[in-house]
Amino acid sequence: MTVQEKLGQIQQLTWTGDTGPGGGQTEQTEAAARAGLLGSVLNIHGARSSNSLQRIAVEESRLGIPLLFGLDVIHGFWTAFPIPLAQASSFDPEVARLDAEVSAKEARSEGVRWTFSPMMDVTHEPRWGRIAESCGEDPYLSAAFAVAKVQGYQGPADGSELSRTDRIAACAKHFVAYGGAEGGRDYNTVDVSEQRLRNLYLPPFKAAVDAGVATVMAAFNTIGGVPAHGNAHTMNSVLKEEWGFKGFVVSDYTGVEELIAHGFAEDGADAGRLALNSGLDMEMVSTNVADHGEALLSDGQITMERLDDAVTRILQLKFDLGLFDNPYSGESAAVAEPTAAARAASRASAARSMVLLRNEGSVLPLSPAAGSIAVVGPFADSTRLHGTWAGPGASRFPSVGILDAVREAAPGAKVTHAGQDLTLAVAAAAAAEVTVVVVGEDPGLSGEAAVRSDIGLPAGQEELIAAVAATGKPFVVVLVNGRPLVLGDWVDSAPAVLEVWHPGIEAGHAVADVLFGAVAPGGKLPVTFPRAVGQIPLYYNHESTGRPYNPAKPEEKFVSKYLDLADGPRFPFGYGLSYTTFAVSRPQLSRESIARDALERGETVEVSLTVTNTGEQAGDEVVQLYVHDVAAGIAQPVRRLRGFERVTLEPGRSTTVSFRLGAQDLGFWTNDPAGTFIVERGRIDVYTGTSSTTRDCSPLTVV
Ligand code: NOJ
Repeated sequence: MTVQEKLGQIQQLTWTGDTGPGGGQTEQTEAAARAGLLGSVLNIHGARSSNSLQRIAVEESRLGIPLLFGLDVIHGFWTAFPIPLAQASSFDPEVARLDAEVSAKEARSEGVRWTFSPMMDVTHEPRWGRIAESCGEDPYLSAAFAVAKVQGYQGPADGSELSRTDRIAACAKHFVAYGGAEGGRDYNTVDVSEQRLRNLYLPPFKAAVDAGVATVMAAFNTIGGVPAHGNAHTMNSVLKEEWGFKGFVVSDYTGVEELIAHGFAEDGADAGRLALNSGLDMEMVSTNVADHGEALLSDGQITMERLDDAVTRILQLKFDLGLFDNPYSGESAAVAEPTAAARAASRASAARSMVLLRNEGSVLPLSPAAGSIAVVGPFADSTRLHGTWAGPGASRFPSVGILDAVREAAPGAKVTHAGQDLTLAVAAAAAAEVTVVVVGEDPGLSGEAAVRSDIGLPAGQEELIAAVAATGKPFVVVLVNGRPLVLGDWVDSAPAVLEVWHPGIEAGHAVADVLFGAVAPGGKLPVTFPRAVGQIPLYYNHESTGRPYNPAKPEEKFVSKYLDLADGPRFPFGYGLSYTTFAVSRPQLSRESIARDALERGETVEVSLTVTNTGEQAGDEVVQLYVHDVAAGIAQPVRRLRGFERVTLEPGRSTTVSFRLGAQDLGFWTNDPAGTFIVERGRIDVYTGTSSTTRDCSPLTVV
């Protein structure tokens, strides 16, 4: 390969004529493919168009190296699954695996070989719109979902299935700490200690790398002043050297060029040099490495070894994907729409992702034999509940409306509808036996560059709830949203509140499944719901202050609290109700103490407990395990999730759930930039229960 051909391989251009930075590259893309100066193209799909562009690269360029086509397939291609934050609420990684499997099959049949997913940015910021794409605030939960998604897209960690026609390459993003954006403002500064980087932000990436993720995408933010795209510590030292990552790192959209705006690079040549030398392998849309690579090489500012390494990593994936043997996609065998099986999978996933926040007086489940039901609110008949990044299917296949699905589920009922008009809604509610009030956020209010400073219900919606409540008739509030919301005091008196997030293409059906009890709600919050925006950041896995608030002494002055707000969140991490009730026993440990060197040799402590369905109907409970190291060289979070299991139980039945705690669960990363993980001697409190506020605890001592 010539130097120019090598530089071409590490260049990715976009296909769409979009108007964003670097948009409108279609002609440039074709010309680069013909000249053999292009490695990859994003935003192209459709077997016909991708095949014709591929033909140019394979048949007309000197070396005939196939292009790698990438697309953001985030929660579905044709078949929109619930948003990732919703999927995390299922506390069932199989939901994410299923999404990835369905997505891979659909996308691959449309010529896509690589998705920019999973997104695994842990965040404490509900204002940040991209929380919708994340798994919320916990690194352990995020890691479990990241692994399931990587496996669903790619198959086994050894890459042996990558060339199959139902697999695509995955991309772990955004590396790293993007979720730490100050003020929740997208792309904003992140200043983070080494220990927090390693204990909070890096674990899902490490898990994805261990699961064989083919690529990693750099993040738009700085990390302690050094932009992620020019960060040799995170990309070279941690990802490639420490973890031995063999795949390639792609920039985010114009992320290399943005090193200049960050005030880190002087110009394009400097940006290209910094990015490549820090471990970045492929440049998306901007062209700094390709434009200046030859000059940088001859000046000795980059080396041929580094360039060859980047090219080798990219070509290796092309081989693994089978692109050299089979560069094209079958045009006739295309999966051109959501299949019945894919829709059923999405529907079940959405129902599994819903979280029952309140159910006083058992308004839910609704009776399919109800005589009359009003369905009101701005999203009552919406067919656009796919979620923020639902893929090309969202514009072709409407989501099932909640109103329609309620009609279907209760064929004998008189089902009336009103939008957000207060008078009509009140009239409908007053005349009905029960009212379903569907409120929340339009999907456009979450996702990239969709940040809100006020995360309450949008204008008019609380008034609607109050007006319906004033009729004195029973009602259920269904929340459709892409982030945790600050819910007003109406929550404390609403008979029932169901969080359904943005549920995907089968939205209405899945909501009706849960409302009428065909599916028992069993999801749990993967993120804290604050009482007020002023509390943010508010998250369960925080450290203790030296002056923690004591709920038994609310009058204490010099403690960590707000003068004008009750302590704690509206709803905590891990919280969610069911239509039945459960009792969970205290954790039993297989031993009360364990030696540190035994842990280092791989020995574990078994923690087991019994969970019983004490109610009248079948249901799901998510049993959760948390640890707290009570005195450590680095103050530890008051709780850290280290195990969870979703169980389904018939009424009156019990089951035993066991977890194993090893060194990985009991130790932590220090502030050593070279990476030191330690397990310290001393007491560790082991908590189990049904939310992060559980008090059931057994002590374990590391000796
Ligand atoms: C910018 C986003 O940050 C990233 O997540 C996405 O994959 C790229 N654009 C490509 O669309």
